[in-house]
Amino acid sequence: MADGPNQHDPAAVASTAAGSSYRFSVAPMLDYTDRHFRVLMRQITRRSLLYSEMVVAQAIHHCNTPGQQERLGRLLDFDPVEKPLALQLGGDDPGLLAAAAQLAAAWGYDEVNLNVGCPSEKVQKGRFGACLMAEPGRVADCVAAMGSASGLPVSVKHRIGIDARDSYAELLDFIDTVAAAGACRFSVHARKAWLEGLDPKQNRSVPPLRYELVHQLKRERPQLQIELNGGLEDLLACQIQLEQVDAVMVGRAAYSHPLRWAPVDRELFGDDASTAASASSVVRGLVPYAERWCASGRRLWPIARHLVQVVEGVNGARQWRRRLGEAAGERSAGATVLDRAAQELEAQGL
Ligand SMILES: Cc1cc2nc3c(=O)[nH]c(=O)nc-3n(C[C@H](O)[C@H](O)[C@H](O)COP(=O)(O)O)c2cc1C
Repeated sequence: MADGPNQHDPAAVASTAAGSSYRFSVAPMLDYTDRHFRVLMRQITRRSLLYSEMVVAQAIHHCNTPGQQERLGRLLDFDPVEKPLALQLGGDDPGLLAAAAQLAAAWGYDEVNLNVGCPSEKVQKGRFGACLMAEPGRVADCVAAMGSASGLPVSVKHRIGIDARDSYAELLDFIDTVAAAGACRFSVHARKAWLEGLDPKQNRSVPPLRYELVHQLKRERPQLQIELNGGLEDLLACQIQLEQVDAVMVGRAAYSHPLRWAPVDRELFGDDASTAASASSVVRGLVPYAERWCASGRRLWPIARHLVQVVEGVNGARQWRRRLGEAAGERSAGATVLDRAAQELEAQGL
């Protein structure tokens, strides 16, 4: 299962670089899009681009020393089934970000992404995240350094503005400056961030969504890959946006309703061979992964905790979740718990 810098697959990287043509991705979400959730999403969509949670470049730097390799592994390790996979980095120091991106390439990630959208106080103290929108030149330096150190495509996830700095002209200036440094894609969370006065949660819902600015961006910079993010709840909403932009990114609705996205490969990527996942196929698909994970004494719970969202809106869902929660919470629980949970769903035709 682990890992370390041994999974580099040049073919996969090349296909990713060529394929900044992803039409759908699952947004990076701290504490949610960990490696286990990403394996779960892979039971639902093979084609989408998945992102890690944000990993701070400075933390990678601290762990990249002899004796800290286990901690470094905890930050970077993933299962090959998760690919194509982007590592999202937080930071504002081109040197640290370059070193982190280089490790990402060695680890086998397909892309690195720079977080210019997070408004948390902690991140602001480090002078990165959304506050970097006020420093397009610095972001450009970071992107250039990450790209040349790693050879990976570098994408940027950002807001449409911050505080009073929220005009379209400023957004365009940010995009043009960063595009010149070689960014392969702009993932635009279509609401501004208020750095003072709103907490991160409020900053994901209070400032209004302004999709029209993202559409204008794509119209005026047709050569750039523009991905729209924010408030997309279902496939139809994504399809509507895809008439105006290159790609869509879904966060909360992917975590809260994973099976809602079962038609993505067929409908958005044109993959006629893909068959829509069911609740039981998702749980069953995780069994071999859980076997490998638990074989080295690790607990089942970090995997199982994500499964509560897989069964919803059907009779007996609550009881199924309760049984799974109780069984998976046992210290000695192993993959057989998932096997049983899948059997129960199969018996109900789910
Ligand atoms: C719990 C949570 C954690 C998040 N963590 C990150 C993060 O690590 N990096 C990032 O760029 N955005 C993060 N976000 C923002 C999402 O990536 C996304 O931009 C936002 O939720 C809007 O998309 P949505 O409406 O589809 O959820 C997070 C959002 C949530 C809800």
